[in-house]
Amino acid sequence: MLSPRWLILVCLACAACQPATTPTVDESPVEVPPAETTAPGDSAAQIFTRRILPIFQSKKPSSCTECHLSGVHLQDYIRPSQQATFANLVAAGLIDVEQPDESKILKFIQRTPPQSSLINQQVREQEYEAFHAWIVAAVAQPELLSAAADDQPIGPQLPVEVIRHARRDQVLASFVDNIWTEVGRCAACHSPDRNQKQVAEHGEQVSWIRLNDPQATLDHMLAADLINVADPEKSLLLQKPTLLVEHGGGQKVVVGDRTYKQFRRFLDDYARLAAGGYATAEQIPPPADEVSVVTDIWLKLTDVPAEYDQQLLQVDLYPASGDGWSNERIATSDRLVAGPQKLWQHSLSLTAPRGSKFATQLAEQKLPPGKYLAKIYVDQTGKLQQDFTAQLDDSDLVGQVEINSRWPAGYGKMTKAPFRPLSKENAP
Ligand code: HEC
Ligand code: HEC
Repeated sequence: MLSPRWLILVCLACAACQPATTPTVDESPVEVPPAETTAPGDSAAQIFTRRILPIFQSKKPSSCTECHLSGVHLQDYIRPSQQATFANLVAAGLIDVEQPDESKILKFIQRTPPQSSLINQQVREQEYEAFHAWIVAAVAQPELLSAAADDQPIGPQLPVEVIRHARRDQVLASFVDNIWTEVGRCAACHSPDRNQKQVAEHGEQVSWIRLNDPQATLDHMLAADLINVADPEKSLLLQKPTLLVEHGGGQKVVVGDRTYKQFRRFLDDYARLAAGGYATAEQIPPPADEVSVVTDIWLKLTDVPAEYDQQLLQVDLYPASGDGWSNERIATSDRLVAGPQKLWQHSLSLTAPRGSKFATQLAEQKLPPGKYLAKIYVDQTGKLQQDFTAQLDDSDLVGQVEINSRWPAGYGKMTKAPFRPLSKENAP
């Protein structure tokens, strides 16, 4: 049975219905230990049994999960016995017996993100009050103060790299890197400022982008099951635009292309994090060497051999440098060839080595005017579909052409160039 107090809280939570809260701790209050009060004369043992053990036994997430997707649980700091819990927390420097209010475990519990939800706040207050009452009572008991710690460490036993990687701010950074920078490709139909027609035809769920708010967009993708945490490859976010399931927008992504790789990079990692699947620092996938951002700068290739119909064609742009060309691509784009029209066209993504100066300027979405070498690759063997982590390389290079353009943005101001097959002189 829910107490009337809980009912009020639940109703408040619904009424507030803020769109951009962080849904973390399960919003169902049923298993949260009731806010028991402790009478002044209660012993530390009574408080431990009534208020700390229920936290230990609870299957509900603790307040820590509001910032730590996995890897850190308040339960990790509790042992079934009061004495072992106390002695080990003291030995780990988490309880301050001189100044109990200053105990580090209390500081951990007090950490609060700026947009904490009402339910999370409630959970946090209960945890704090329980630990505070227990610690204050416990430090006054000589037999606890003299208890010796055992040799089992207390707290999460994961490497700090894993705890760091599982932090929600890190997860959000990876989401921005890998997915948020790509959704410009989907915005015409999925962003609420631009998709009135799609909404009228298909319903509100097509508006899955939350304007200027990557965290809210991620939260929505999880809540609306666009991300399949149990089987990330089966996420609708991938299956719709690759046409593995029917998609009102048609084919927007090809298995193994750059967008697909980025989506998988985030989704696979998120699923493993959510399952607490990392035990060592070595298991954590390193971030991509390159960062990128989708632009509205378009490139069209004409005279593309019709035999490449429906094969993935990738163009990399290299800026002029000295007498030749830079070694690093500055923009890329990949899409299927329209063979009958001998045509390929797509918007460009700007790319830069992670940490480079240009990486900080990508958001401006500008490609400096001037001369570039376009290297053209075609996946003629379908190797990316077989292994989405594969890359097109020199063995897939089929053409290259110099392009001089001001690179204006807009579909109507597309830069055009003819496809030039690789000749003996310009072979790599
Ligand atoms: C408001 C967000 C937030 C909450 C809530 C939060 N943490 Fe953290 N935690 C962080 C951040 C940020 C770091 C990174 C290091 C730092 O700033 O101290 C961190 C780091 C840690 C670490 C790594 C080691 C260390 O000493 O830095 C541990 C362990 C940890 N937190 C435990 C907890 C526990 C236990 C809880 C819940 C009682 C919790 N955290 C709640 C934000 C939070
Ligand atoms: C030209 C318009 C258009 C573009 C561009 C487009 N889509 Fe869609 N998408 C639709 C329409 C219409 C629907 C609704 C019908 C359906 O579910 O297939 C839809 C549905 C979806 C859904 C299911 C949403 C839900 O909650 O049911 C997902 C996921 C999706 N698209 C992903 C994408 C991704 C990812 C991109 C960009 C890479 C993209 N779409 C680009 C038109 C588009």
